[in-house]
Amino acid sequence: MLNVILCGAPGSGKGTQSQFIVEKYGVQHLSTGDVLRAEIASGSELGKKIDNIISKGNLVPDELMLGVIENYIASLPADCKGTIFDGYPRTVAQAESLTSLLEKYRMDAIMIDLLVDEQLLIQRLIDRGKVSGRADDNLNTIRHRLAVYHNQTEPVAHYYLHQGIYFPVNGNYAMPDVFIQIESIIDRETKR
Ligand code: AP5
Repeated sequence: MLNVILCGAPGSGKGTQSQFIVEKYGVQHLSTGDVLRAEIASGSELGKKIDNIISKGNLVPDELMLGVIENYIASLPADCKGTIFDGYPRTVAQAESLTSLLEKYRMDAIMIDLLVDEQLLIQRLIDRGKVSGRADDNLNTIRHRLAVYHNQTEPVAHYYLHQGIYFPVNGNYAMPDVFIQIESIIDRETKR
């Protein structure tokens, strides 16, 4: 089974590379951002609360996210080839919860960290904001999302470094060239 925890700053290419990984390896894709946006689109009371958090560029509380992940893992089909965890975990507390859950279900994972220069991240998100309609793709919110990333999510890299499953990737290159690096890590690590 191939489980990839795909981390990186906003705009680093997590969603883009997840699609490439799904196509090549036939695994499932769990984007916590997509799950949260679907809840907002449903118009539920919970969705309204989430909208208020996401549109400001803040993180949704850990307890709520843990519920999403628990439900997801518990409902995986027996023949599942693995999962790309796109955008989870974003705090060390979330990483600890995920470790416990993966242990409970006897699942291994590797963590791939997409590293991209800040100016490039901002440019990508501003460009996407012209067409995406995402409430958080505007310059002020992008800057806040990046600050939240540095404060709350970057320590997650150290957590996985200590676990010995941390693999950085240079995400500044064109999409196919980023995927070549990811492929080589996955192919090497799954042969062990
Ligand atoms: P989420 O939807 O996960 O947003 P994000 O992390 O801000 O990431 P993005 O979707 O903006 O970027 P990406 O890295 O996926 O890059 P993409 O491939 O799209 O989360 C949204 C919000 O939900 C969070 O801010 C938070 O509030 C909440 N949330 C989600 N998970 C949570 C959690 N676990 N805990 C708490 N809260 C949570 O690419 C971006 C653009 O760049 C695209 O236009 C793409 O075409 C382009 N691009 C990608 N790669 C390249 C490349 N190599 N070269 C050129 N362009 C590229």
